Amino acid sequence: MVASLPALASFFVVLFCVLLMTMLPDSCALTAPAPTLNATTTCATCAFLCDNQRQAQQDLPEDAPDFYQAVFETDAPGCFVLNVTRSWAPLGADQFYTLLKDEFYTVGGGAAFFRVVPDFVVQWGISGSPDETQKWDAPIQDDPVIESNVAWTVSYATAGPNTRTSQIFINLIDNSRLDASGFAPFATVVEGMDIVNNLINPTPGDSNGVDQDLYTEKGDEYIEANYAGKINKVVNVSIIV
Ligand SMILES: *[C@@H]1O[C@H](CO)[C@@H](O)[C@H](O)[C@H]1NC(C)=O
Ligand SMILES: *[C@@H]1O[C@H](CO)[C@@H](O)[C@H](O)[C@H]1NC(C)=O
Ligand SMILES: *[C@@H]1O[C@H](CO)[C@@H](O)[C@H](O)[C@H]1NC(C)=O
Repeated sequence: MVASLPALASFFVVLFCVLLMTMLPDSCALTAPAPTLNATTTCATCAFLCDNQRQAQQDLPEDAPDFYQAVFETDAPGCFVLNVTRSWAPLGADQFYTLLKDEFYTVGGGAAFFRVVPDFVVQWGISGSPDETQKWDAPIQDDPVIESNVAWTVSYATAGPNTRTSQIFINLIDNSRLDASGFAPFATVVEGMDIVNNLINPTPGDSNGVDQDLYTEKGDEYIEANYAGKINKVVNVSIIV
């Protein structure tokens, strides 16, 4: 029996893919160039990447590098990736790095995307653990606004001057009118915009999002009691330096 040429060809293509998949872990070692994700990356690939990077998290430098990436794995499911550029907003970038290393956005069941306002912002950064939120409630000083709040940039939410703690938001559209109010972008979403765009809005018709005081006080317990299945959360975050 002679296999047709196309059948043979596809056999080798499949073999090649299987080999490639088995070899993948090495090519994702931290010394390799930062792996790139994009909006079409499957969840399996994303989970693999997050797992792989997570194993190397103990090798992270103590202080925030001038540039780093944060891979946010969500239960949407799917990942999105932030490029953080320290020179854009040094204090904000340093604080974010510290929060990530302390697993602020993942402990206690994961931080929920508690405010989703279509054509405006997605906001999160109250920890699932009330103790963790409290641990980081000392505000940092403002950074000068160097970059503009254009679509896909990320800034801290504030309650006036010098009040930044852990809450951040993604600008879903060009919100450069926010620049004048002191919001200093420190990062930009570079992959997974479709994941961000599809995050569930837990409070349709109410642009304030969930009750921040109750969420801060009770953490994930409050979210589970009131928004189970109607809100998305952070599952894991990996830092890539
Ligand atoms: C995402 O990656 C896939 C596979 O490498 C590629 O085919 C596709 O064009 C990329 N999409 C975007 C939006 O970059
Ligand atoms: C984000 O960072 C990666 C890794 O350095 C780089 O390849 C990519 O071009 C950056 N994307 C943007 C939009 O700056
Ligand atoms: C998140 O990361 C931890 C630590 O590697 C892992 O045990 C867990 O399965 C991950 N969670 C999900 C939902 O992938």
